[in-house]
Amino acid sequence: MEARSTGAQPRHTLLLPSLRTSLLLTLILGVWYCQALEMITGKIPYLEAVNGSTVLLPCKYASCVGIKDLYFRWSFNDTDPANKLVDAWIKDEFTEPAHLTIYKDRVEFVGSTKTQNVSILLWNITFEDGGVYTCYGKNPKEKGRYHNSTFTLSVVDELRVVDNTLTILIASCVGGTIASLMGFVLIKNFIIFVISKVQERNKECLVTSSGIDNTENGLSGSKSTPKPTPKKAPKKA
Ligand SMILES: *[C@@H]1O[C@H](CO)[C@@H](O)[C@H](O)[C@H]1NC(C)=O
Ligand SMILES: *[C@@H]1O[C@H](CO)[C@@H](O)[C@H](O)[C@H]1NC(C)=O
Ligand SMILES: *[C@@H]1O[C@H](CO)[C@@H](O)[C@H](O)[C@H]1NC(C)=O
Repeated sequence: MEARSTGAQPRHTLLLPSLRTSLLLTLILGVWYCQALEMITGKIPYLEAVNGSTVLLPCKYASCVGIKDLYFRWSFNDTDPANKLVDAWIKDEFTEPAHLTIYKDRVEFVGSTKTQNVSILLWNITFEDGGVYTCYGKNPKEKGRYHNSTFTLSVVDELRVVDNTLTILIASCVGGTIASLMGFVLIKNFIIFVISKVQERNKECLVTSSGIDNTENGLSGSKSTPKPTPKKAPKKA
């Protein structure tokens, strides 16, 4: 029994890598060509709004498979359905949401199936409205795949005027420093390069000249006649 199982194992392990690669490939290709249901609350899912204003909580859905009886829900500060603000079903790509229920005052549904938009408006916000809003969707057409995205709302007394001058100043300072550092490094490298070239030449020259005598360099002026030529070389460089 044991011998059999050990005999079978190598085959199994041999099969695994190819199976894994093919699975991975299928997955990658699948993701590449077909995006499963996704709820999108925008590139910047964060908003700072003044007390008393009305804000749009954006959310769109996307699914390459298409939708059928898509269920969506907005909830506040918790994905717990008990905290829901709005929910509804969308029968298909051509039908506006049905059974739309709004669970909270000041909430208005402004989405449209035409634009795959399930955004809501929150009227006359108060400080209690600050928090995390979750847009949840579930698509039975994708074996009940669900997805959610959050949007953070922060309620402020008044919009802070962002002092850009300091940021720009710091940025340009940092940029200038980096630029000058780069320039310095470039110049330094160039100088090092030149020096190394000069030294290389010197060494070459020293080897040729010192082949004769390296101890009496300064003393024997007649023997080191090739010396003047190497001395010229560094000056040229
Ligand atoms: C927030 O706005 C509401 C309506 O404008 C106002 O009644 C309330 O006093 C404001 N609260 C604060 C703390 O400013
Ligand atoms: C928002 O506040 C304005 C002014 O106070 C009021 O007229 C309006 O009915 C409020 N809207 C909602 C949805 O509460
Ligand atoms: C969704 O619809 C609302 C109301 O028409 C609109 O203001 C908003 O820009 C739309 N959002 C997206 C992401 O298209």
